[in-house]
Parts: sequence; structure tokens; C-alpha cells
Amino acid sequence: VCRRFTDLAPMRAQVAAWRQAGERVVLVPTMGALHAGHLALIAHARAIGQRAVASIFVNPTQFGPNEDFSRYPRDVEADLGLLAGAGCDAAWTPEAETMYPDGYATRIEVSGLSEGLCGAYRPGHFSGVATVVTKLLNQVRPDIALFGEKDFQQLQVIRRAVRDLDLPFEIRGVPTVREADGLALSSRNRYLSAEERARAPRLHGVLTEIAAGVRDGGEAEPLLARGRAELEAAGFVPVQYLAVCDAETLAPLPRVEGPARVLAAAYLGRTRLIDNLPV
Ligand code: PAJ
Repeated sequence: VCRRFTDLAPMRAQVAAWRQAGERVVLVPTMGALHAGHLALIAHARAIGQRAVASIFVNPTQFGPNEDFSRYPRDVEADLGLLAGAGCDAAWTPEAETMYPDGYATRIEVSGLSEGLCGAYRPGHFSGVATVVTKLLNQVRPDIALFGEKDFQQLQVIRRAVRDLDLPFEIRGVPTVREADGLALSSRNRYLSAEERARAPRLHGVLTEIAAGVRDGGEAEPLLARGRAELEAAGFVPVQYLAVCDAETLAPLPRVEGPARVLAAAYLGRTRLIDNLPV
């Protein structure tokens, strides 16, 4: 059974009891609308620890005024069933008033890393993420927290915040789970029409081509120009960014020498898709 907690004190008591008994507790923060990508994080949590805790909270502070906060898919009962089936031990499902009570005034700002890529198009987004993840970590107090590489910039922002603030938790990334045709699983894929869904895997295809090109020593610039044109031809309009970046700092690279990442964000109809690959 996956035990649901909506109050802080009993949840903390449960986690403390597990840790006192020598069990390693692994947290998987989510916004619900769970799919096989989230469940892979739970499976990984169970593989590396004795207790898996998932949090479900659709965090208002990471959505912009014109983003999909109000229509973000919510189905906690279905999510709890999926978590139980995946062997998750506990679900932390705080109310908005628990996370941001009257008078709440603090935000975590990770400069630099938060400014490029998605940050340029979603002002305040990574500040909202860093703030809520810092709160979730301090609430649950796990040994380890897992995040998907699907949201690679988010993963690096969280790593930076945890390091900078000396938070005593280990952060680990988990590789992206994809459909058979390459499309990265996302709660937002359900917004795609059948016709858009058929075109969507092109994003992964173009990232794969660019990753191969720069891995072979190619200059990023012409590969990115061709990739952008291919995406536009496939109906991705606008392409917000398509970039080859240093895997840690996310600074754009003219060519690849050390660990690097190819990252993209583009609209397919009304749906914004993001994806990235290691080089
Ligand atoms: P959410 O989009 O629900 O994602 C929860 C976690 O699942 C994140 O770490 C995300 O990277 C991971 N994930 C999503 N799709 C994945 C896929 N296809 N393969 C592997 N992992 C995947 O990301 C958030 O929520 C929020 O920003 C959050 C961190 C919970 C803070 O509110």
C-alpha cells in the first residue's frame, strides 16, 4: 500500500522512523498526471533505497500567467493507484495552503543556469522550481532525491541550488523514458492531436542527428541551422531554442570537447515540447 500524507508532521515522523531503522529513503517529486516516465523514477528509487516517497503538488509558482496551471491535468486518485502498483511506500500530497500559507514571502533564485534556454521563455519558472523543490526536500528529508533528465535544465538548477545552500541531500538524474518512436514521455503529450502526435517524434530525430554530428567533431552552428529548418518543416513553430551546450553550465558551445547536451524547446500546435540528449 502507498500511504497518503497531507499533513507535514505525520509524514516527517514516518520518514524519520524509516531512517532511524537504517532504511534509505528516496524522494521523487512530481506534479502528478503520472506516466511511465514518473514510474521509472519510482522503480529507480526502489532499486537504490528501501523506501520510495513520491510527492504530488502542482506548483503554482513555476507557471507563468499565460501557462497551463489551471488546465494542468490533475487526477490524484489515479496517481495514487499507479504509485501503489509501482511499489511506492508513501505519497506526500500537500495542499497549496501548506506549501504557501498566508504571508509566504521567500523564493530561491539560481542565477546564470536559470537564465538561458527555457529560462529565457519562462521568466520565474526555475525560481519557482528551485523554491518548491527546496521546500519538498526540507519537508521530506530523504537521503536521495531523483529527477528526470527529460527536464535537464531543471536537474542542473536543482543540483546547483542544493550545492549552494549546503542542503544535505543527494540529487541524482535518471535517463529519459521514451515511446517506441522516440517521443519523450510527458504529461503534456495528452494535449497533442493525432496528427501532431504523428509528427512529434521528429524532435527526438533532429536531436539525434545533431548529437551525432557534433560528436563526430562537427561545428554546432550549421548542424543547428539545418536541424531548426527540419523542425520548422515538420510543423514545429516556433522553435524557441535548439542548442548544443556544456552539460554542467549549459553555456552554448561552438563545438564539443567535454560532456555536452543538445537541447530543444518547440511548439507543435498549442503544445510546447522539450527534449534533450547527451552528446
Ligand atoms: P513533473 O513534470 O511531474 O516531473 C516529475 C519528474 O519526472 C521530473 O524529475 C521529471 O524530469 C521526470 N520526468 C518527466 N518525464 C520524464 C520522462 N519521460 N523520463 C524520465 N523522467 C521524466 O518536473 C516537475 O514535475 C516539477 O517541476 C517538479 C520537479 C515536481 C517541481 O514542481
